[in-house]
Amino acid sequence: MSVLPEGFPPAARIKDLKARVGQEVSLQGWLYNMRSKGKLAFLLVRDGSGICQCVAFSGDVPPEVFERAKSLTQETALVLRGAARADERAPGGVEIGIKDLRVVQQGPEFPIGPKEHGPDFLLGNRHLWLRSRKQAAIARVRHQVKRAIQDFFDEDGFVQVDAPIFTPSACEGTTNLFELDYFDEGKAYLTQSGQLYMEAAAMALGRVYCFGPTFRAERSKTRRHLTEFWMVEPEVAYLDLDGIMALAERFVGRIVAQCLDRCREDFKELERDTSKLEKVVPPFPRVSYDDAAAILKRKGVEFTWGDDFGAPQETAISEEFDRPVMVHRYPADVKAFYMKRDPADPRLALCVDVIAPEGCGEIIGGGQRADDLAYLEGQIAKHNLPKAAFEWYLDLRRYGSVPHGGFGLGLERTTAWLCGIEHIRETIAFPRMLYRIYP
Ligand code: 4AD
Ligand code: MG
Repeated sequence: MSVLPEGFPPAARIKDLKARVGQEVSLQGWLYNMRSKGKLAFLLVRDGSGICQCVAFSGDVPPEVFERAKSLTQETALVLRGAARADERAPGGVEIGIKDLRVVQQGPEFPIGPKEHGPDFLLGNRHLWLRSRKQAAIARVRHQVKRAIQDFFDEDGFVQVDAPIFTPSACEGTTNLFELDYFDEGKAYLTQSGQLYMEAAAMALGRVYCFGPTFRAERSKTRRHLTEFWMVEPEVAYLDLDGIMALAERFVGRIVAQCLDRCREDFKELERDTSKLEKVVPPFPRVSYDDAAAILKRKGVEFTWGDDFGAPQETAISEEFDRPVMVHRYPADVKAFYMKRDPADPRLALCVDVIAPEGCGEIIGGGQRADDLAYLEGQIAKHNLPKAAFEWYLDLRRYGSVPHGGFGLGLERTTAWLCGIEHIRETIAFPRMLYRIYP
């Protein structure tokens, strides 16, 4: 059953209007903005796929339709019928000459107007803020990033395996775990990473990836941290650190290229300087931790050898390059328990972080995994992890252990980088942060 009034032609979506020029169409949407001048009312109507200028001319419509058009408030739900005509000046190149217009529902004044609002107000009204042009553009870019990720792995013969969200143990350190009671089994935790499960799946299927929400009880209130974020984690059997870096650069290059191709309108809406993204083609620079430390020293950035990089160090390093930089072989002591040591220098781990340009920070963390049973048992003890909870993981080193590795890419940080926005909270529909869980 159609929700259109009688006599209205089938509805078109705004993004498809170019192909409907010369025809009469219906639009189903909401009023974004209205201005009137004498015998004309200009309605900007949005329908989720785009925004279209619709013009009511008092000579073309019955008087009550013209009056109705002029009285609409922002975000009134409406359906209209009219002629699609080409117009160079209109956004999207098509304009609708209104013939009839019906109000579906009209409410009081919309809380979010064209004037500037503070972030707290906007975040508290996130359910309504999503309707703004910029937020809708970011949502569409995020969607295309996800599609590019899935296309890439699908074409490369990876199997998507879903990791559990409830886990019996920590993967990325014990300081930022969300803990809960799990019936009679004791404590359980929300997953920090699907990696350990992907290692098991990689031994079964060769190349796998998981893609889903992950949780970190981060007490840090930065523009790069959420407590709930999405991570994609490939894991590959018979792969060493060099292979992992080659996979990472090909992967990131593909995401950027596919989004440049499919998100042109959205990048325009976001006023993104895409020339910076056009440069993001493999190979990416590979810089060892030691080389990165030398860069910091040369630039006079405060830093002690042995520490992990924070935002200031990452930004200083990434400024040296016009594409993402792969920093490899960090000191093992600042990295997770499961990393393989570098045989050439056992102080170092065979790991890699990919740092995005333009101050966006680390978007990928990963590396080669320890594949030796005795070494891993030692690491579990050294990190005070409960061995019983890791017996299944140790089994992977008992039965057919091979060199393997992978990485995790954060979807929100990647989307923020592509969109050129400051804070990752705008890249997820309902961000979860230290001081925010509503709406
Ligand atoms: O470097 P991380 O902690 O790596 C892991 O979790 C590995 N187990 C992944 C693997 O090898 N399979 O996290 C990977 C990425 C980071 O580079 C970042 O993009 C993102 O996840 N990330 C966050 N994004 C938003 N908010 C947070 N609190 C994040 N923590 C990590
Ligand atoms: Mg990391």
